[in-house]
Amino acid sequence: MQTVVPNPLREGLVEQRVPEPCSMVIFGASGDLTKRKLLPALYSLYRDRLLPHAFSVVGFARRALPAFTAEMRAGCDQFARRRPVDEAVWSSFADGISYIDGAFDDLAAYLRLKEHLAMLDRARGTIGNRVFYLSTPPSYYPLILQKLGEAGMISDGTRPFTRVIIEKPFGRDLESARALNRTAAAVLREDQTYRIDHYLGKETVQNIFVLRFANALFEPLWNSKYIDHVQLTVAEAIGVEGRGGYFEEAGIVRDMVQNHMFQFLTLMAMEPPNAFEANAVRDEKTKILRALRPYRREDVATHVVRGQYTPGSALGQRKIGYRDEKGVAAGSRTETYVAMKLHIDNWRWSGVPFYLRAGKALPKRVTEIAIQFKAPPPLFFGATGRTVVEPNVLSIRIQPDEGISLKFASKVPGQSMEVLPVAMEFRYGSSFGAEPPEAYERLILDCMLGDSTLYTRGDEAEASWRWIDRIFEGWTESNAEVAEYPFGSWGPEAADALLARDGRAWRRP
Ligand SMILES: NC(=O)c1ccc[n+]([C@@H]2O[C@H](COP(=O)([O-])OP(=O)(O)OC[C@H]3O[C@@H](n4cnc5c(N)ncnc54)[C@H](OP(=O)(O)O)[C@@H]3O)[C@@H](O)[C@H]2O)c1
Repeated sequence: MQTVVPNPLREGLVEQRVPEPCSMVIFGASGDLTKRKLLPALYSLYRDRLLPHAFSVVGFARRALPAFTAEMRAGCDQFARRRPVDEAVWSSFADGISYIDGAFDDLAAYLRLKEHLAMLDRARGTIGNRVFYLSTPPSYYPLILQKLGEAGMISDGTRPFTRVIIEKPFGRDLESARALNRTAAAVLREDQTYRIDHYLGKETVQNIFVLRFANALFEPLWNSKYIDHVQLTVAEAIGVEGRGGYFEEAGIVRDMVQNHMFQFLTLMAMEPPNAFEANAVRDEKTKILRALRPYRREDVATHVVRGQYTPGSALGQRKIGYRDEKGVAAGSRTETYVAMKLHIDNWRWSGVPFYLRAGKALPKRVTEIAIQFKAPPPLFFGATGRTVVEPNVLSIRIQPDEGISLKFASKVPGQSMEVLPVAMEFRYGSSFGAEPPEAYERLILDCMLGDSTLYTRGDEAEASWRWIDRIFEGWTESNAEVAEYPFGSWGPEAADALLARDGRAWRRP
């Protein structure tokens, strides 16, 4: 449905899409994600008048929670994008919030939920449309999908619609991702299945499309003829902070690389889709994943470095090492840092290395994509002494301090031909002023609208796991070293050596 409503980010009236009436059920609603992200996102959408005119949200989890609405209010007070929470807006939004307690394996609880939703359809006009959000430990996804099917809660038509959002992680290897896809496919069509990766909801990530395909300037240079290499960095300045038990099972490759970093990689490297439409975009992203050159067993040791942080310091404070964290085994080999070199075997990227690194306990929090162009020939500038002709670098900062920076060479004012690098900067904050919506706002709204462009398709998830699995196989077979690095450093020396072998160096963002 197309409706004209004010866009909060721009003056005047622009066309906004408003979804059909629906109810959203959050499985795992007593958990951290619901309070911190999901309800604040729904409140912000409601406040911006982007939710359907008839809407309700139902929490579902094991414990009895008589004060669910009050707890969600406390979550919004603490985490909503625009605070303080507006009393009048909250009061009307809160009318649509309810909670059902039940165990995920209890069919009777689903039947109670079904009855409750039918009552809401009658009372609030939600006309049978459903979004089910699986915000639970991943081991429960198959059970919940199966029970929803058994309870007859999944409409297979498009009117009314049933859509299911599945939180990350989507599997922990190719086999489990395939199994989850099969379970989902037993009860849902692919176009009802929304695998969420909240990084795709970030403005800066979506802006990669616009930077590339709405500017004549960059795309002609976006290939192996002009680009020397690409660096992708996700650095966190904190350790596992009490989530040692979770991280032991995951590691940084599963937690960061397979999902978020591969999203940046595919958006950065994909061919232009023939439409900004779910399958056209995801076809192109999936082609990149299929074009990733698979590591041979022996390549893992030479192309991938894994590391683990040891005691160190940050901002003058002593920090413990990963193995001293609660929930972490004394002899743990789980990687808290990874650096890798990979190639995309297609025409555009032939011969261009992509270097990825992700780590915890690094000196600062930064997520960026840096595209380094080929250096110009040295020519005559070199004869004048203090001259640094550095290659152009286009860096896309995803967080924090969102923006884009282009480094180019400039003449230093004066009598000589001295050349130094300078930067052209774009910052979201100063250019647009208004605060962008949270990633979850955009993605939840897209699901209600039936737009899965920014969600991961099943074959896309499998293609990324197929490639990633080889890293784990290589590590297991070779019993590869886990290199140490002190908390607060830029990672193990072996990661620097990985680039030094190619005559390159990591950026220090
Ligand atoms: N937290 C984040 O920032 C974040 C970020 C990205 C992705 N995720 C993903 O989002 C999902 C949810 O994360 P979370 O941190 O909110 O999880 P969580 O805090 O561990 O919450 C788990 C929820 O599941 C419910 N639950 C567990 N077993 C149940 C059972 N047998 N029957 C009924 N309810 C049961 C719990 O209910 P009771 O409390 O009543 O037992 C609770 O509501 C996870 O898949 C996570 O990987 C989380």
